[in-house]
Amino acid sequence: MTAGDNKLWKVGVIITAVNVLRTPRIIQTERGDVTILGPITAEEVLRHDLDEGLSAFRPPKEQQKALAEIAALPEGQVIVAIHDARIIGYVTFHRPEEFERWAHNQVPGMLELGAIETSKQWRGMHISSHLLEVAFSGGALDAYIIIATEYYWHWDLKGTGLSVWEYQKFLESLFNRVGLRRVGTDEPDILAHPANMLMARVGPLVPQDTVLLFEESLYQNRWMF
Ligand SMILES: CC(C)(COP(=O)(O)OP(=O)(O)OC[C@H]1O[C@@H](n2cnc3c(N)ncnc32)[C@H](O)[C@@H]1OP(=O)(O)O)[C@@H](O)C(=O)NCCC(=O)NCCS
Repeated sequence: MTAGDNKLWKVGVIITAVNVLRTPRIIQTERGDVTILGPITAEEVLRHDLDEGLSAFRPPKEQQKALAEIAALPEGQVIVAIHDARIIGYVTFHRPEEFERWAHNQVPGMLELGAIETSKQWRGMHISSHLLEVAFSGGALDAYIIIATEYYWHWDLKGTGLSVWEYQKFLESLFNRVGLRRVGTDEPDILAHPANMLMARVGPLVPQDTVLLFEESLYQNRWMF
């Protein structure tokens, strides 16, 4: 199966779609045209420098390596915003980590929205909104349960000047636009701070068995209540 193959295929009861290429989108901003495209390969990630304003998680050079690693993972996806051959924004998807309760061998058919970032110089120009819209376009993620584990310690509170609650509200409404909704869970890292949140979107092509496994995975410490 190659990138761009948009057929759905069936393995047992798991239906999955592998790295469906999205139709690229060109958007006009006050700083010039930006192309949103992907998923791109690890080699393509390494061919485009990351803008210096992409430093929310780690320095741009290191982040570029991290993006290339995600692009090379099974079912890893990196959608990028490009201006003048430089990456100025990205959103990533990958299988949940092996140690998580949503690991591939626990609940197959899940992808985690790992990170979304817009370069500091490009924020507020709807780059991330377009990244998400392109990522979810054409039903490309409809065979997956997409989760986003949002921990306030990853948020750029300093850079935006927002309070933790304002940031939570703005992220929640950003993700709501593509159908992710806040869901309850007893996952300890989410419970560690009331601003943390788990968001999820169950794609319309996800088999019922997978939905049940996901629902069961949300609360694993019922004995506590
Ligand atoms: C979160 C982030 C990706 C948003 O990127 P962006 O390209 O600036 O977002 P957009 O321009 O698409 O804005 C989306 C909406 O949020 C609003 N918004 C954006 N920045 C905002 C801010 N600082 N305060 C309040 N609202 C804001 C926009 O007005 C827009 O709403 P609108 O369409 O009603 O006008 C960016 O702030 C970022 O990179 N932050 C650091 C990394 C991070 O926190 N990632 C999220 C956790 S993984």
